[in-house]
Amino acid sequence: MKGLVLSGGYGTRLRPLTHTGPKQLIPIANKPNILYCIEDIRDAGIKDIGIILGNVMPEKVQEFLGDGSKFGVKLTYIIQGEPKGIAHAVNCAKDFMGSDSFVVYLGDNLLKNGIKAIPKKMNQEKADCVISLCPVKEPQRYGIAELSPDGKQVLRTVEKPREPKSNLAVIGVYAFNSSFFKVYPKLKPSWRNEMEITDAISLLIDSGFKVVPHHVEGWWKDTGKPEDILEANHLILDGIESSNEGKVEEGATVVGRVRIGKGTVISGRSVVRGPAIIGEACKIGPNAYIGPYTAVGDRCEIGSAEVDDSIVMDDSTINVERKLVRCMIGKGSRILSANGMLPKGERLVVGENTTMYL
Ligand code: G1P
Repeated sequence: MKGLVLSGGYGTRLRPLTHTGPKQLIPIANKPNILYCIEDIRDAGIKDIGIILGNVMPEKVQEFLGDGSKFGVKLTYIIQGEPKGIAHAVNCAKDFMGSDSFVVYLGDNLLKNGIKAIPKKMNQEKADCVISLCPVKEPQRYGIAELSPDGKQVLRTVEKPREPKSNLAVIGVYAFNSSFFKVYPKLKPSWRNEMEITDAISLLIDSGFKVVPHHVEGWWKDTGKPEDILEANHLILDGIESSNEGKVEEGATVVGRVRIGKGTVISGRSVVRGPAIIGEACKIGPNAYIGPYTAVGDRCEIGSAEVDDSIVMDDSTINVERKLVRCMIGKGSRILSANGMLPKGERLVVGENTTMYL
């Protein structure tokens, strides 16, 4: 079996963060979303993985993942270019897959319990396709599955239905065999002009192939919007263990589960309250407060500021006597105090499509 991770799409709902890179590289608890997907596939015993690249700085994905050897996998890059839907992205991997069956993982999806159950189910059930399902509150936002009364068969999958037949979302982890490539030529673009994976699955069913549901256990997150990323950050930090490769100076306090990276110094009367993660070579203090569910990237400087429930990306500086809550701060940002400056007022250099609450 092979793996396929999709890293395309424009990530419009995550602008401005996606002006400078694909959404799949946004860090969640200091690790890009796409790496969680690759590790899950690897941990399911699959080492040969294709990566579908879109056109939002795809070179950044290649730069970060390389040939995959650092992560114990072998990666092959496949260009999708312009996003034309998930099914289109999968079809781009036709030559790479050959006659193998494969697992598809959307690079902006995250699962608590990995994907080991999927290839197992594909083999046990001798299925042509396995889809993963998870109950959701707003079924109109997802692909939705309609099951047979006994729950054993998938009857149909519909993309963002106005009148959903169930609350079971078809989440971004699927397994297929080469029957996918047989039915793909019959697929038509949807109302949003995409080649929908849900239409491809329905087409498999209508063509007589065996499509089996798998109900995921534990949480699942689609990280398409800022609030989803903060929530995913929460969920991952909830499971971290403490470790300290840095230095907590006398007078500073670290409470709860906190991971501190190499070369990081926490100084003065600073307080770090876990669960939290602080990357490498950071300077925290002298009077900083880092609250629960905060992830601070590498080489950040946080002075006398309060940062709570937030994601602060690499190389950022925060030195302002304010409390920052549920913030996402892009790489290399500087948030400083305007106290005492004249004329008085906030001084901002703000990128396109930024949201600020002052
Ligand atoms: C896509 C799929 C949808 C699926 C969702 C899961 O939605 O089209 O079927 O439920 O991912 O993350 P989109 O991100 O295109 O709205």
